[in-house]
Amino acid sequence: MWKVAVVGCGVGRNHIAQGYLRHPDKFRVHALCDVDEARLAVIGEEFSIPRRTRSFDEILRMDDVDIVDICTPAALHFEQILGALAAGKEVVCEKPLAGSLTEVDEVIAAEKAAAGRVMPIFQYRFGNGVQKARRIIESGVSGKSYLATVETAWKRTAEYYQTPWRGRRGTEQGGVLLMHAIHNHDLMIWLMGPIASVFARTATRVNPVEVEDCAVASLVMRSGALASFAATLGSQHEISRLRLCFEHVTFESALAPYSPGDDPWEIVPASPEAEAQIADALAGYRAVPSRYEGQFAAYHAALTTGAALPITLIDARSSLELAAALYHSAATGTAVTLPIAAAHPAYKGWFPSKPEFVLPQKANPEESVR
Ligand SMILES: NC(=O)c1ccc[n+]([C@@H]2O[C@H](COP(=O)([O-])OP(=O)(O)OC[C@H]3O[C@@H](n4cnc5c(N)ncnc54)[C@H](O)[C@@H]3O)[C@@H](O)[C@H]2O)c1
Repeated sequence: MWKVAVVGCGVGRNHIAQGYLRHPDKFRVHALCDVDEARLAVIGEEFSIPRRTRSFDEILRMDDVDIVDICTPAALHFEQILGALAAGKEVVCEKPLAGSLTEVDEVIAAEKAAAGRVMPIFQYRFGNGVQKARRIIESGVSGKSYLATVETAWKRTAEYYQTPWRGRRGTEQGGVLLMHAIHNHDLMIWLMGPIASVFARTATRVNPVEVEDCAVASLVMRSGALASFAATLGSQHEISRLRLCFEHVTFESALAPYSPGDDPWEIVPASPEAEAQIADALAGYRAVPSRYEGQFAAYHAALTTGAALPITLIDARSSLELAAALYHSAATGTAVTLPIAAAHPAYKGWFPSKPEFVLPQKANPEESVR
């Protein structure tokens, strides 16, 4: 039984209702934290969580809390992860894990020196469609990868942006690419492997916000396969869709916008031989629970046995490296090759910082005094 403190009562509510409470023999939500007193009271009452605080530091001082689950706005994740690791806690953190590759590399270094580990959230990986696709690909049956398309067609209205931290570069740190399509893009990397190069275009057309809400990208994978992304927050009919073409099999995901990893996936073999090999690859397949329930079940197994976490900081890093590359490409109008090394301008952050305001040099210093 692992004792959890959930920090942030927005999506944190889903972690409780759809994750921890589905495993009452494995986790207990022991404490709840939110700076918003009203929200803290509502969620605390709903799930009968007696220990509630507005102070993150107080959570860190609770010796009987094993896991700190960070569900706060994105710009707070970095400091809170470092704080929780320093306090000796296990850490769960929502996407996006951090605001730059510099930050994620600092978290990786901090985790190496800490007693606890950090599990980023990528709950879309827990669905039987995508798990079966991954198993088939890992078995080698699929053969050469040809091409993938990834669509994230969601809808966000003015109401969504009433939450003050959203829609601003400083606090949301990115738009549809960083905050929404990040899940489907993570699935694509998980299935197709590492990316070699990206070219992206972004636009803000749906809501009057500082971050992008429409994006397209053209990618070359390290395998040589091609991929394309299309992402918008202006789709009246919301869908997520991944379509992956391999030599011996084509996969097409379900269209459920927020659980595209779930069955049914269309798995179309290229031949009767491929069909038989796919059946062999899936023999003994054990179904996983969907989304948070599945990720937290796998998390518990890893915590208990000390095995690798089901989602690691390297997975979060890959998603942020992709975001950095996409934003840098869109800003510069150039193709960006990966990996993004420490000397790359996008390593420290994806939005170019505003040039510092410098006073114009006066020919005569006396003049400036007057
Ligand atoms: N995995 C997913 O599908 C998914 C879905 C939604 C949001 N998210 C991510 O979860 C994070 C939170 O998003 P949200 O939609 O829940 O936002 P939200 O604004 O609805 O909720 C965040 C909560 O954190 C609280 N908070 C702010 N500062 C705090 C602090 N210092 N200490 C404690 N609590 C504090 C706020 O009062 C608020 O209640 C974001 O990173 C977002 O990208 C992930």
